[in-house]
Amino acid sequence: MELVATRNKGAEDILPPDTYVWQNTERFMARIAESYGFDEIRFPTFEKTELFVRSVGETTDVVQKEMWTVKGRESTYTLRPEGTAGAIRAVIQNGLLNEAMPRKIYYQISAFRHENVQKGRLWEFHQFGAELVGAAAPQADAQMISMANDILSGLGIGTELHINSVGCRECRRKYYEVLREFLLPVKDKLCDTCRSRFDKNPMRILDCKSEVCRELTANAPVITDHLCEDCAKHFAQVGELLDEAGIVYKVDPKIVRGLDYYSRTVFEFISSDIGAQGTVCGGGRYDGLIEEMGGPATPALGFAMGMERLILALKAKGGTDAKAKGCDLYILAADSERTGNSALKTAASVAAALRKSGKTAEYDLCSRSFKAQMKYANKINAAKLLVIGESELETGECVIKDMVSHEQRQCRLDGEEILRTI
Ligand code: HAM
Repeated sequence: MELVATRNKGAEDILPPDTYVWQNTERFMARIAESYGFDEIRFPTFEKTELFVRSVGETTDVVQKEMWTVKGRESTYTLRPEGTAGAIRAVIQNGLLNEAMPRKIYYQISAFRHENVQKGRLWEFHQFGAELVGAAAPQADAQMISMANDILSGLGIGTELHINSVGCRECRRKYYEVLREFLLPVKDKLCDTCRSRFDKNPMRILDCKSEVCRELTANAPVITDHLCEDCAKHFAQVGELLDEAGIVYKVDPKIVRGLDYYSRTVFEFISSDIGAQGTVCGGGRYDGLIEEMGGPATPALGFAMGMERLILALKAKGGTDAKAKGCDLYILAADSERTGNSALKTAASVAAALRKSGKTAEYDLCSRSFKAQMKYANKINAAKLLVIGESELETGECVIKDMVSHEQRQCRLDGEEILRTI
């Protein structure tokens, strides 16, 4: 028979004990975000394709090449390639813009992009994202960057922070003219993708990974030299606030981001420990997006971290020793002619009492012999062992054995008492 139990390329199974590393990391990130006043939101995995085309941008690789799109009965839908579009759609639609501003939200999601699969680049991946809606001041930019920095440094992941300003529409319009003028003489030598970006989005050419395009753009004019007064002031203030907070960064005019909604500050945290796909966090300001999506003009900004890349970075520095909780007590019990059905019943009630107090307790579910149960208890590294046999049921007394020290302690065959003894 054909084997259907095969995983798709570009999607990963996350198994124990890694699931515990993920849980710990996700909890830590949520805790930091909540300490900054962010609340979690959840929103659908898919949206109308149009939402992503309008927000992420028609000329981006994400929209042109990477979307997982299906035709439904009423519309065409796309699995979210990122979180901002869906999160902001939910914010607008559910009236969160009428709440006290700024509104701060975070999310932990899976996202989907049809990219060339490699280490740290998947078809289905996971993001921790945060969006701060309704704040235009540079303090908001500094706070977002500082929160991302707290998360990464708290996890012990070493990164370099690169920041840039992509200006407002007006500075970009003027800068595009200067950039096109610079690129025109070499336009024919650019790669196909870059040539197609020349008219609509020439700044993305600076982000091309091809060696030829990199060389051709090495001395290209940079946006930071062409910002309008307000954008330049905003960017300078963000830099000053980061300096004051002691956050080290590098101004990198080549950070242009792959999504079209950005304005002013953009930033990336890059790890050098995980190979070519080193950007573990990307974000920036998107002051025009909410209006573009049909809401009232509202400034906003955010970031997202790639969970798979974060976990790779954690593994690279050996910080992933989370273990499954393990079994605190394995109860050996088997019903027999002599015990009737009371051995397993007693085991179940002892286990229930322990679980109520947060302990892990297990007993036989496979009608196995005592010997086989013992083997299983060893395999799952049970910390303690309790036998419920004929004599324990008769006397109401039992023995708890420590599987490592082999120490034995006697107590009454009673959940509360066992809990106190283990
Ligand atoms: P992004 O830079 O496209 O930004 O993605 C954020 C992070 O998601 C990346 O830095 C990377 O760690 C991870 N990532 C992206 N694509 C993949 C992939 N194919 N496989 C594995 N990891 C990946 C955004 O998504 C924006 N929504 C961030 C944002 C929020 N900007 C403002 N608010």
